[in-house]
Parts: sequence; structure tokens; C-alpha cells
Amino acid sequence: MRETSEVLSSLWSRVSTRRQSPRSSTRPSAPAGTQPSPGGARSGARSFEVELRNSGVVVQVPAGTSILDAITRHGVLAPSHCRRGVCGTCQTTVLTGEIDHRDLVLTTEQRARGNAMMICVSRAAPGCDRIVLDL
Ligand code: FES
Repeated sequence: MRETSEVLSSLWSRVSTRRQSPRSSTRPSAPAGTQPSPGGARSGARSFEVELRNSGVVVQVPAGTSILDAITRHGVLAPSHCRRGVCGTCQTTVLTGEIDHRDLVLTTEQRARGNAMMICVSRAAPGCDRIVLDL
């Protein structure tokens, strides 16, 4: 019985050590206060415009509303699944505009390219009043 206890203690010690090790992935973790939320809403968000180049539509995205929700209200359908920035289903090509990436899908390198975004959670970056999407 004592041996079992020592083995379990040793295993737990290893698990605890691994949990504290830094991750080596290039996938960025969400900055504090930027974790995706259902529907893409997050306090402090500001409004901006989204131009859907293929649809010929410009949609106002209010503060606290995701691009996905805003365009859906205008009858433009886009694929989605989690609506929390974790599955990648809503990834959309960005033609112009600066993005405030709030997803947990794109890598740091993909974010730096600036040509794709998750429209369920990501928004226009501060100072960018219009994003043009390939929709
Ligand atoms: S719907 Fe899953 S990342 Fe947007």
C-alpha cells in the first residue's frame, strides 16, 4: 500500500511539473481580457463598417456585436460553428483593413499577414473604420 502511495505521489509530481512548463507553440494565447465570448461580443468594442466586396453590401457593426451577427442580420450568410473563435469555420479572407484578432485559431504568422480573420470574434483594429471582406 505504501508503494502505491509513493508511485502516485511521484506521478502527480511529474504532472504538476509539466503543467507549469511553458508551451512551445507559435499559436498565440489570448491577451488578458480578450478571451473569446459567445456571439463575439466583448465590452469596450467600438462600431465600425464592414464592406462585403462580393455582395456589394456595407454593414455597420455596432459595439458589442460580432461581424458574423451583423452581416447575418443583413441577410448575408457565412459558415460558422463555435461562434467563439476556436474552430476556424468562419475564417474569412480580408481584402483591406487592420484586424484586432481575438480568435484562438490563427498563428502569430497568420495574424501578421493580415489577410484572414475569424468574423465571429475578431474586429477592426483601433483606428480602422472599415474592413473589406471577400464575402
Ligand atoms: S465560428 Fe468558430 S471560429 Fe468563428
